[in-house]
Amino acid sequence: MAYATTLAAQPFPDIYPAKQTLRLTAKRTAAEGIVAFEFSSLDGAPLPPFGAGDHIMIDLGPQMSRAYSLCNDPAETHRYVIAVLKEPDGKGGSVAMHALDEGAEVAVSLPRNNFALVLGAKRHILLAGGIGITPLLSMAHALSRHKADFVLHYGVRDLSRMALRDLIQAGPFADQCMLHVDGHADYPAYDIPQILAEPNPDTHVYVCGPTPFIDHVATVAKANGWDPDQIHWEYFVAPETDDPAEKVSFEIELVPGGEIVTVGPEESVVEALEREGIFVLTSCAEGVCGTCLLELVEGEPDHRDHYLSDADKARGDCFMGCVSRAAGGRLRIKL
Ligand code: FES
Repeated sequence: MAYATTLAAQPFPDIYPAKQTLRLTAKRTAAEGIVAFEFSSLDGAPLPPFGAGDHIMIDLGPQMSRAYSLCNDPAETHRYVIAVLKEPDGKGGSVAMHALDEGAEVAVSLPRNNFALVLGAKRHILLAGGIGITPLLSMAHALSRHKADFVLHYGVRDLSRMALRDLIQAGPFADQCMLHVDGHADYPAYDIPQILAEPNPDTHVYVCGPTPFIDHVATVAKANGWDPDQIHWEYFVAPETDDPAEKVSFEIELVPGGEIVTVGPEESVVEALEREGIFVLTSCAEGVCGTCLLELVEGEPDHRDHYLSDADKARGDCFMGCVSRAAGGRLRIKL
C-alpha cells in the first residue's frame, strides 16, 4: 500500500491488515452516474468470504484508499461486487474508481463489517436512499437465502439514478422490495413515518444513504418510540456541523515525547501531524472507516465521526484523527 514515507507508530493495529491483489473482471453502467464493478482473484481461486453489510477498502493511489460496500450475495465466493456513484466534486475516489479499466489489478482489503444484521431479530426493515442501496442489497440476499422476514425499501429522486434495478426486480427477493421514486406516479411515496409507524421490539431497522436521509429516519424512529438499539445505519461521510468549535485551533501533545502540535482551525489532527512530518494512516478522511484511530491518553475529544460507538466514545481512550477535534483544552495522544 503506497502511503507517505514516514508513518506514525499508530497504537492500534491496521484494521485492514491483509491486502489481496484482485482483477477488475467486469465493469458496467448500473444507473446514470453509477458503475458496478466486479473483482475476482487472479487465479480463479475462491475469494475470502464476506458477510451481509461488509465493505472492502480499495487502494486507488498514494494516500487514497476508499471503502465500498459489497452488494452481491455473501454466498458467492467468485466475486466481490460494488457500485460507485461518480462524484466529480468529491475527494477523487469515485473518479479514480470510474477510471479503472477492465482487467486492472488492484489491492483490495479483506472484507470488514461496521454494519451487521442482528441475527436474532424476527423481522428486518431495510431502508435505502440512493447509492446507499449497496450494503442493504447484500443484507437482502442473506436474509432471502435464510428465508427471513424482511422488506427492502429503496428510494431515489430520479428513476435514471436507481442502481441495479434490473437485478433487484429479477432477483429472489423482488417481492420483498418496494421501490420509491420522488414524484413518479408509478411508484409509491417513500413514507418513512408510515413505514416506522409502529415500533416493534422484534424488528430491527437498517438504513443507508445520504446523511439527510439517515438523519430523517433516525428522527422519525425516535419520535415514534423505537428503541435506538433497533436502528442501525451506515454513513458515507462525517456529519457536517456549524459548531464554532470546528473553527478554533487547539493543541495536541504527543506521549511520551512531549512535543506540542497546534491544530489550526481549518485542519484536522491528521493534517497537523503530517505538517510536522508524522504521517497517520488514513483512508476515507471522512470519519467513517476507522483507519486513522488514535489512542487518547488524556483530554476530551469532540467526536465528529460515524465510526466509534457510543460505548467507544464513553471509554475516552481513542478518537478519529481525520475529523474529530478537542472539546476544550489539550488532547494528549500516544504516538
Ligand atoms: S480515515 Fe477513515 S475514519 Fe479517519
